[in-house]
Amino acid sequence: MVDAIDDSQLRADMLAALAWQVELGADEAIADAPTDRTQLTRAPKAAAAAKRQDRAQDQAQDHDTGPAEDPVRAANDLAANAQSIEQLRDALLGYDGSPLKTGARNTVFADGNPAAEVMVIGEAPGRDEDREGKPFVGRSGQLLDRMLAAIGLNRASEDPATSAYITNVIFYRPLENRTPDDAEVQKLLPFTLRHIALAQPKVVLCVGNVPAKHLMQAKTGITRFRGSWSDVPSASGSVPALATFHPAYLLRQPDAKRFAWRDLISLREKLESLQ
Ligand code: URA
Repeated sequence: MVDAIDDSQLRADMLAALAWQVELGADEAIADAPTDRTQLTRAPKAAAAAKRQDRAQDQAQDHDTGPAEDPVRAANDLAANAQSIEQLRDALLGYDGSPLKTGARNTVFADGNPAAEVMVIGEAPGRDEDREGKPFVGRSGQLLDRMLAAIGLNRASEDPATSAYITNVIFYRPLENRTPDDAEVQKLLPFTLRHIALAQPKVVLCVGNVPAKHLMQAKTGITRFRGSWSDVPSASGSVPALATFHPAYLLRQPDAKRFAWRDLISLREKLESLQ
């Protein structure tokens, strides 16, 4: 019986790893993602979305009778008081310092195993994540799952050594899926830093520019910064963090998957060295 379970798990892992390898071998002729033509018009749309969100913030402040509270200080206080991941989640649900919240259906906090050795931190929820209330459940999430499976990790696993814990630096879907700006990230960063301190992963994997910039202090874009290790603050002092490409970028640029593969190997080696 035990062998049967092991076999089916092994088979699923092997198939997932194989799927990832197939993706690594894809070239332009068999690109696995169509070119997203909407990207070409996203900039003006994103600017309009940002304006709408600013307007919503102004309106919210118009109704505010007292002196406006500093949202970063409020986030810091709430996050610092949380003594468990559940308390942190509740604190976040009660936080109204991010105007992004007004345009979102759900607060997308985390998914996977909070005890996992690996904590994956992305950018912000997209449409699917906003709908489901969970990070990385859309197409890029499916690719992320295959990437993790290629190094033996599965967010659904109960074993900390083979699972992953997944979150984002932004917990609400920005309208039009625009990239969140620095101020928007800073308002929520106390929650992410406290999240890392409470989850105590052995390793953090930052996927994409935004988490690399704000958590790892990346001074260059992800194309140059990926593959770099640096420390992010944690309860135990610090935790090693690795930056890699965002899966959404890999869907658009399959050629870059070979670099992501190198990063995953580096992650695997780091985990082994920490055993
Ligand atoms: N992209 C992210 O950065 N996070 C998600 O949760 C989904 C897509």
